Amino acid sequence: MNYERGRRQAEKISDFFDRRRKFKTQVLPCDEQSYLKAKELMDKGEVVAVATETVYGLAASAFHDRAVQRIFLAKGRPQDNPLIVHISSIGMLYPLVTEIPPQLELLANRFWPGPLTIVMKKSGLISDIITAGMDTVAIRMPSHPSVKRLIEVCGYPLAAPSANTSGAPSPTSAKYVLEDLGGKIPLILDGGDCSVGVESTVVSLAGETPILLRPGAVTLEQLRQVLGEVKVAKGVNEPPAAGEKPLSPGMSYRHYSPKAKVTLYVGSAEGFTTAAGGGEYDFAICFDAEGEKCGLPYESLGESDNAATAQQRVFSALRHADERGAAHVIARCPAKDGDWLALFNRLQRSAGFEVIGDE
Ligand code: TXA
Ligand code: MG
Repeated sequence: MNYERGRRQAEKISDFFDRRRKFKTQVLPCDEQSYLKAKELMDKGEVVAVATETVYGLAASAFHDRAVQRIFLAKGRPQDNPLIVHISSIGMLYPLVTEIPPQLELLANRFWPGPLTIVMKKSGLISDIITAGMDTVAIRMPSHPSVKRLIEVCGYPLAAPSANTSGAPSPTSAKYVLEDLGGKIPLILDGGDCSVGVESTVVSLAGETPILLRPGAVTLEQLRQVLGEVKVAKGVNEPPAAGEKPLSPGMSYRHYSPKAKVTLYVGSAEGFTTAAGGGEYDFAICFDAEGEKCGLPYESLGESDNAATAQQRVFSALRHADERGAAHVIARCPAKDGDWLALFNRLQRSAGFEVIGDE
């Protein structure tokens, strides 16, 4: 028993060191030949990065434990943070769960394929490595043609987290995947820039009342229109309480952080402009109207009445801040709720929960 554990440990360590210098990472366009190449690699237990409509994913066969383990190793992801399993048809879902919650059909009809992940009770086909020992599994049917076709070609569901180094902003183009995982994975399927830009909304249907675990492009209001009552998990709007285990383990980490320090300003353009001029900051992530006024080099999130565009741009803006050598970034989010909840949630984490403002 001990010997077996020791051997597994040693294997993990050697895999980790190999992974640091093993690959000349190929970046291929999304065509049938590339999908076949990706399948060949994944059949053998490798991991491949692929475009989805939200962010790029780092995919492995959900039925190949060692491959799933490699996802954690390549990203440096904590083992206690479970992965999302991606499917390309409803038929693929049934074997993965023990029961179909009554609300599933409503959600699937309205939002699948698309940026919504649904947590359900898992079946024995889903390994504890994917779910970090939880008795539930998170399932998503993505809409981007690249990941959709890749799952169809493979014929098995794909476990995939975002394709960034753990803790860094999620990658919204192939270039950023290469930046984080180049040399650590064999292949990136380049499907262009992601249209949504923040990770999927995660909702749990594993209990009696649906619970929002992570906000995304599918808003809380949209979920409530379809489901009626939807609770909001602790930790979506505020820092996780010390010592408390959140329902969605991914929400407990400092996350989405560039190398630069980030401070989040929640509130008006005027208040932001004044705060940005305070002398502490050397870069701004804000909206068109206040960009010129704030007196700092800046990256625009678009118009301040368009949450979708801001979401689409936010992770690349955080990476641009690093590319431009920023030391301390001030970022603006107009509000903490409604359409702005997903942007607020991500920027709050990038800022390590350092939030100021007039809201
Ligand atoms: O848009 C997305 O969801 C992207 C693309 C690639 O599909 N994926 C993604 O995966 O964002 P990842 O691993 O970065 O985030 C998964 C989130 C984490 O917060 C994790 O804790 C949560 O989903 N999660 C996964 N399985 C869960 C479960 N069984 N119960 C609760 N939360 C779960
Ligand atoms: Mg992630």
